[in-house]
Amino acid sequence: MKRTFRFLTAASVAGALALGLGAVHSVHAFDEHEATIDYRQGVMRAIGGNVGAFAAVVVDGADFRDNLKIHTSQLMELTEDIPALFPEGSDFPDTDAKEEIWEDWDRFVELANDTREAVEALHATVEAGDEDEYPIRFRNLGQSCQACHDDFRRD
Ligand code: HEC
Repeated sequence: MKRTFRFLTAASVAGALALGLGAVHSVHAFDEHEATIDYRQGVMRAIGGNVGAFAAVVVDGADFRDNLKIHTSQLMELTEDIPALFPEGSDFPDTDAKEEIWEDWDRFVELANDTREAVEALHATVEAGDEDEYPIRFRNLGQSCQACHDDFRRD
């Protein structure tokens, strides 16, 4: 219901623009969210790419162990501020982010922090070359991603 309402809002803005009613500011706001959403989905895919590459080595045995630090370093960069990728109102137009994110922001930030801590722990283990710890740290990381997706990402 709410989404329909939002669609109508977007349509009214477009209509107002077509009529030259000076809705430029609102239209700009929609564009801004669209770019933000594209950007955060790109960052999330990059996070997913590094996690997937790490799994291919540690879980499936691909012969790229020397590269593990590249992947955890990138995860360190990319997960530094996940909440910043979700400015208020960016649950429209084309996104899997649920509006519950902004209704339960503290919980969302807490889950982002869990992922951040799991990345730091994994990165530290890789830097120390403590291979026995890789599987458990990696599993912790995966579970932290899942926890947020379960609550805040549309299936
Ligand atoms: C605090 C919440 C949160 C955490 C933590 C989180 N994600 Fe996400 N992720 C999201 C949300 C919300 C979306 C949907 C974004 C959208 O569609 O705008 C998403 C989308 C994605 C996508 C799909 C991107 C696309 O192409 O649309 C991938 C892949 C992904 N996340 C991987 C991960 C991985 C891997 C981790 C853990 C290392 C992770 N995420 C941690 C909330 C989170």
